[in-house]
Amino acid sequence: MTEQTTPDDITATVLASFGRSPDERLGTVMRSLTAHLHAFVKDVALTEEEWRAAIGVLTATGHITTGKRQEWILWSDALGVSMLVDALANRAPASGAGDGGGPAGAATESTVQGPFYVPGAPRRGYGERIDEMPAGEPLWVHGTIRSLDGRPLPGAELDVWQNGDNELYAVQDPEAPETHLRGRFTAREDGSYGFITVRPTPYPIPHDGPVGRMLSATGRHPWRPAHIHVIVRAPGHRPVTTHVFDRDSEHIDSDAVFAVKPSLLRELVARSADDPERPPGITGAWWSLTSDFVLVPVGPAG
Ligand SMILES: [Fe+2]
Repeated sequence: MTEQTTPDDITATVLASFGRSPDERLGTVMRSLTAHLHAFVKDVALTEEEWRAAIGVLTATGHITTGKRQEWILWSDALGVSMLVDALANRAPASGAGDGGGPAGAATESTVQGPFYVPGAPRRGYGERIDEMPAGEPLWVHGTIRSLDGRPLPGAELDVWQNGDNELYAVQDPEAPETHLRGRFTAREDGSYGFITVRPTPYPIPHDGPVGRMLSATGRHPWRPAHIHVIVRAPGHRPVTTHVFDRDSEHIDSDAVFAVKPSLLRELVARSADDPERPPGITGAWWSLTSDFVLVPVGPAG
């Protein structure tokens, strides 16, 4: 009598089907995907009804995705996969030795880029503002860009983007100029940079689609704590894509995309209109935020 085919037989057959992949890496990835996916289906004893529901969710994800709405990345973000891929690609090196004339510091940690980055932000000068229409309370952001050994990095580029107090990035806001709340700054001879912006506010990730339905069905919220996005680049160094977070922001302990790292938290300091450090270009009460960035050299000289 022929033995019955078991669930494990099915898994073994599918695994074997990838045994001759001409692309070795692809074969490895597909076998691992099969092994974990089959294990998941067995672990939860997936029902036929749940399988049909899952196909419906994937179909809806494809249908809602456009050039401006990327629901697949939202799934990756909301399931922590974006952070995991970033963490594997950017493992932190040891701290610098401090022999470059400046203070030693740990390399700035990376975090997700998110869906709102648009390349080609306008170049702006030291101390200039990035808000091009009313968008919130004035905020002075400044600091120094250094190499891992403490040496300042004149000419390093700081590419910044953020949302305003309407919770929107310029790319989402039909009322905003496309260069609003975006800018590229060049570090001065001593590695310093500075710009005027507005205090960022928490905002929800798009939650009117399949990801939003998953969040509400599982008792999660779509909010991200207030942050400013930056990419820091300098010749001879690995660029870092990261955020600075308002450490006192609502949702700082429950970011919907898991992007908060303790080393990225910064204090926003309340300043009065008559504060002697008030930068030209700000009137009235303001906030300040100090954030240094430390880049890792690439190549054998590092
Ligand atoms: Fe963001």
